[in-house]
Amino acid sequence: MLLLLLLLAFDASLSRAALYKDTSQPIHARVQDLLSRMTLEEKIGQMTQIERENATGSVITKYFIGSVLSGGGSVPAPRASAATWAAFVDGLQDGALATRLGIPIIYGIDAVHGHNNVYGATIFPHNVGLGSAGDPDLVKRIGAATALEVRATGIQYTFAPCVAVCRDPRWGRCFESYSEHPELVKAMTTIISGLQGETPAKGVPYVGGSSKVAACSKHYVGDGGTRSGINENNTVGSYKRLVGTHMLPYFDAIDKGVSTVMISYSSWNGIKMHKNRHLITDILKKRLRFKGFVISDWQGIDRITNPAGANYTYSVLVSVTAGIDMIMVPYEYTKFIDTLTSLVKQGFISLDRIDDAVRRILFVKFTAGLFEHPKSDSSYRSQIGAHRDLAREAVRKTLVLLKNGKNAKYPLLPLSKTASKILVAGSHANNLGNQCGGWTITWQGASGNTTLGTTILQGISNTVSKNTQVVYEESPSSSSVKGGGYDFAIVVVGEPPYAETQGDNLNLTIPQDGANTIESVCSSVKCLVILISGRPLVVAPHLSSMDALVAAWLPGSEGQGIADVIFGDYDFQGKSSRTWFKSVEQLPMNYGDVEYDPLFPFGYGLKMGKK
Ligand SMILES: *[C@@H]1O[C@H](CO)[C@@H](O)[C@H](O)[C@H]1NC(C)=O
Ligand SMILES: *[C@@H]1O[C@H](CO)[C@@H](O)[C@H](O)[C@H]1NC(C)=O
Ligand SMILES: *[C@@H]1O[C@H](CO)[C@@H](O)[C@H](O)[C@H]1NC(C)=O
Ligand SMILES: *[C@@H]1O[C@H](CO)[C@@H](O)[C@H](O)[C@H]1NC(C)=O
Ligand SMILES: *[C@@H]1O[C@H](CO)[C@@H](O)[C@H](O)[C@H]1NC(C)=O
Repeated sequence: MLLLLLLLAFDASLSRAALYKDTSQPIHARVQDLLSRMTLEEKIGQMTQIERENATGSVITKYFIGSVLSGGGSVPAPRASAATWAAFVDGLQDGALATRLGIPIIYGIDAVHGHNNVYGATIFPHNVGLGSAGDPDLVKRIGAATALEVRATGIQYTFAPCVAVCRDPRWGRCFESYSEHPELVKAMTTIISGLQGETPAKGVPYVGGSSKVAACSKHYVGDGGTRSGINENNTVGSYKRLVGTHMLPYFDAIDKGVSTVMISYSSWNGIKMHKNRHLITDILKKRLRFKGFVISDWQGIDRITNPAGANYTYSVLVSVTAGIDMIMVPYEYTKFIDTLTSLVKQGFISLDRIDDAVRRILFVKFTAGLFEHPKSDSSYRSQIGAHRDLAREAVRKTLVLLKNGKNAKYPLLPLSKTASKILVAGSHANNLGNQCGGWTITWQGASGNTTLGTTILQGISNTVSKNTQVVYEESPSSSSVKGGGYDFAIVVVGEPPYAETQGDNLNLTIPQDGANTIESVCSSVKCLVILISGRPLVVAPHLSSMDALVAAWLPGSEGQGIADVIFGDYDFQGKSSRTWFKSVEQLPMNYGDVEYDPLFPFGYGLKMGKK
């Protein structure tokens, strides 16, 4: 009998009883064990990330899919609740757990200023504003809050932070960049410790439990350096300059244990980053010792060729060979799987390369605790929208005071809470969608009541005395302003929401309706102008007519934070994360340039002091 038991135990060890499931084993041993059990089909499945639209439990089971994403605005149902989201993600996870080896999926989403695809989530200021706040602890707390809201929906992975160093504000993604200054961007990588938790071992990918999410530093590398700020274009310069300007934040991100790195659509010296083996494998993986996985951007491998997808075999061959581990396909996944399978079977891509990719993906999944806790935790459901006070604090800190009084002896700010009648005007004064910008509910964002929050007008109304009459008119005529008997006016104008290429802009003027409102109001009454924009705009022609000017960037859902400051409950502390140029002809012009003649320099920001 004893012998029989011994034999059975021996037999179990021969079939290598699921060492990868044994939590007492070190992660590298679990990864190695699991990898050794996997077929090529299972490995290639792990490397495949598909869009939510294509994802069902049975698709995941059938193709051994390793990851699913929501693209911008891709939601299981309009205004889906946290419970609906979590049920959806858990349903996909069931498909993954039903496979032979039961390897969980990791679900990724662009939670880039809060969990911004989700209706009712807290929307934090976009990165350009957070760079102006310049507070590493603040962004860390925002990271932790965002992780909780993401976990509320059952999701375990965010494609954030963007650590682009935007060197030309004509770029449509400039608001996703903390600053033009690499050191300031680097200082903001504390958000990674907020999202993932503090890694106990420097440089080792880490996700600290079910209240944290895997992060992604993007877009490696040089995304913010393209010519004239053209999205996805070419960044030209020496290796030394690439390292000193655009690669710098990655050093810190890797130290902080960032789990993944996303590759940039852009090229460096004419070579698409998605095929740059030297920068991905030799530099990122070997020299910088990045141990997490490298992910492509959305159809990023397709865009290696011009036109996109012209030779998909080539795209798969050169991107995987370059060192990309997971491909954000995201739609034509059977084509991707078939192409990669045939390239491996024909010997064009080595099994070693596939194993490196899968090892990295599994490593992240193990560290994220997905094997032990593959499903959502319902105790986080109430986290959606639960961080509005933090967002309001962030708004206060992001505001940059650029001008206060036509004559510095007579400042306009802080504004009086007890004025008898004030005017609030402009396209962005009472418009939640406009103050949130792109990447809010939908990819491009949209004007209007797209989600929950407090508009700037509502914040003003909440703050002034009961006896103050607040009149709101979006675009008043100058005669109505003159005859209105106002003590002062607050004009809130700026850019419409946009994202990526749609935001590329060569003139950077204040849109005409906003410029008109500034002129008609400010010529008639004392005025504060609040600019809502993802970057500095050309303000020089309007500056003399304004009594005061505040750059509020893209503040997000908590407009109250603006009233908190302009009425003097808090002082300004923002320092511009970007150079304010006089005219677009000066661009690109950044802090440290030999020819530097700004309207307001990098780091500029006034205080009000006490009234
Ligand atoms: C950069 O933009 C120009 C103009 O749109 C285009 O012709 C060129 O192909 C782009 N270069 C890259 C590397 O994308
Ligand atoms: C597509 O790329 C593959 C791999 O580089 C190459 O062998 C093939 O000739 C290309 N096809 C065409 C039509 O150019
Ligand atoms: C994925 O979904 C897209 C959009 O609905 C569809 O066009 C595509 O055919 C789907 N892919 C597959 C492999 O079914
Ligand atoms: C949004 O809703 C508020 C409150 O119902 C309303 O006053 C406002 O006009 C709406 N804004 C837009 C842009 O539709
Ligand atoms: C500035 O560029 C934007 C984006 O291309 C365009 O929509 C707008 O009309 C331009 N404005 C002017 C004044 O040319």
